[in-house]
Amino acid sequence: MSAAGLPERVRIMEVGPRDGLQNEPGVVPTGAKIRFIEGLAGAGFSDIEVTSFVSPRAVPQLADAAEVCAALPKRSDLRLVALVPNEKGLERALEAGIRAVAVFTAASESFTKKNVRMTIDESFEAFRPVAARAHKEGLWLRGYVSTAFACPYEGAVDPSRVADVTSRLFDLGAHEVSIGDTIGVAVPADVDRLLALLLKRFPAGKLAMHFHDTRGTAIANVEASLRAGISVFDSSAGGLGGCPYAPGAGGNLATEDLIYLLDRLGVHTGVSLEGVMAASRELARSMGRPLPSKVLQAGGVMRPLGPAT
Ligand code: HMG
Ligand code: MG
Repeated sequence: MSAAGLPERVRIMEVGPRDGLQNEPGVVPTGAKIRFIEGLAGAGFSDIEVTSFVSPRAVPQLADAAEVCAALPKRSDLRLVALVPNEKGLERALEAGIRAVAVFTAASESFTKKNVRMTIDESFEAFRPVAARAHKEGLWLRGYVSTAFACPYEGAVDPSRVADVTSRLFDLGAHEVSIGDTIGVAVPADVDRLLALLLKRFPAGKLAMHFHDTRGTAIANVEASLRAGISVFDSSAGGLGGCPYAPGAGGNLATEDLIYLLDRLGVHTGVSLEGVMAASRELARSMGRPLPSKVLQAGGVMRPLGPAT
């Protein structure tokens, strides 16, 4: 912790190539995806979620997962993560050389049904062999809890349900659990309430926060999470993103906006803001449209201001 009561460093899980590109209406060419990930890798991330090995019928945008993974540089200082919903997904990920996988479920039944066509209990049945094999192969395993604040179909979600699903993911052997505001409705008071409960049960270092910025509250929620002791955040370069099975899910918190805040707070990330902006700009050119990140649109800072404290 710094003197200001914030973590001294934050690890960012860059999810743009997965959470961002899964929601694009058009198909982004495989080559553009690979260049995007290479640009991000050059910006200094330690973790990039590169794709999903899900059903290509469910998410056609990521049907080229194997080709993308095959083209990526394998570096010991860069964890390439892929989403897998079941054993078939894990098998495909292993064949593609992936050594870190994420399983995903939610705190609400209706969303889980729409997203993976399973109940929450059935999703855990599907994860059991995935976790066992991941453990045997020495893979890093992440778990996601979606709809941690509200469900697009059921409304508000009770924090105790989030804690229960989180606990089941840790029981499976997840090294880290990411708590998702899938439809971007949370405000800092919601974050305080949820984290007050979660941090009684789980160490802060094993939790990540995953905010979508649908209503512009993601950056405020990051500050609330930092003050509670969270030091891992998911974000998406350019602010791309959303979930095809969550109506109203806007883009993820933009990585540029997150790094700008952290740089100004004097919290170390190891990631170059300019490097991320360059990767986002190149992707925006190949997609033929601007990306929503505010910091990206502002065009950077002519004279860097340095930490505010
Ligand atoms: P299903 O149709 O119930 O599955 O889908 P199934 O087991 O009956 O299989 C149906 C067909 O899919 C079969 O093919 C399987 O082989 C195939 P067929 O015999 O008909 O030709 N199949 C697969 N193919 C490739 N890879 C696989 C795979 N599995 C089955 N892994 C399933 C169930 C879970 C597979 C499907 O619903 C699915 O893939 N869903 C993924 C949905 C998704 O990716 N959502 C977005 C990610 S979650 C998210 O964005 C939230 C997050 O960002 C956090 C937050 O914001 O909160 C993480
Ligand atoms: Mg998401």
